[in-house]
Amino acid sequence: MPIDIAVVPVAGHGTRLLPATKSQPKEMLPVGRKPVVQYVVEELTQAGIRKLLFITGASKTSIENHFDFDERLINYLRETGREDELQQLAFERQDIEYFYTRQRRQLGLGHAVLCSRSLIGSQNFVVALGDSIIGINAQSDIVRRMTDEFESSGADIVVAFEEVDRSEVFRYGIAHPRGAAGERFELADLIEKPSVDEAPSHLAVAARYVFSPAIFEALDETEPGKGGEIQLTDAIRILLKRGAKGVGMTLPASERRFDIGNYESYFKSFVEFALADPDYGAALKEHLRGLL
Ligand code: G1P
Repeated sequence: MPIDIAVVPVAGHGTRLLPATKSQPKEMLPVGRKPVVQYVVEELTQAGIRKLLFITGASKTSIENHFDFDERLINYLRETGREDELQQLAFERQDIEYFYTRQRRQLGLGHAVLCSRSLIGSQNFVVALGDSIIGINAQSDIVRRMTDEFESSGADIVVAFEEVDRSEVFRYGIAHPRGAAGERFELADLIEKPSVDEAPSHLAVAARYVFSPAIFEALDETEPGKGGEIQLTDAIRILLKRGAKGVGMTLPASERRFDIGNYESYFKSFVEFALADPDYGAALKEHLRGLL
């Protein structure tokens, strides 16, 4: 059966984005016109995902509200003839089932994924981190390519990667490819947030994964790692060590990842998306020219 379910962890505190994230989720910060998580959902639905399971936490209810039908707003816009604005709510009508569960203790990304176990059961599934957009306006079909790869190659794990600067490797999970790393490569190992000297490559985990349910058994055995947290990277490592087949897929330059986890990349992402806006991009470009 084709993979049609994705787990979207959105439980993190967003401490690197305080004070903006004190009472609102970082996944609801706007990038251009839409909140980050809306792009993630659009990307996933384009890839054939029909069921979305959010792993949420305290102060995250606005994510649930965002994907609900807002009858009052719809009626108001309809009655006042605001067709353009009504069009902006088209995403509410997508044919998707939403599920929400809380990560009741903040024990790390691996633990957040483990919270999806009962709902996922014996299905293969996608994990898409809710604070990363792939491709400008989420125009990437990397998830579709990853699920195709998973199904056609008999891989147990497929992970998306992007080339990062040497100075950035300490922020990410870093691939140890077996042999040369091209657009698609075999994953020998993976290290969470290594130092520059420890890093086996400059290929960073880019927030999209495909798993079989075997990941849950590995997560069960995963001890707290970097930052004292149960790391998804460490569970993948356990499976690779046991001979699981891991495939890495490198994002092409046209499908860059926009990371909303810190202010530097958030600001850059916002400006890039705003510049690409069909109505306001050109005026913004002029304005920026004047400022610079
Ligand atoms: C997580 C993962 C890391 C990955 C990153 C991508 O880290 O643990 O392997 O490279 O997401 O966004 P976090 O950003 O939650 O610290």
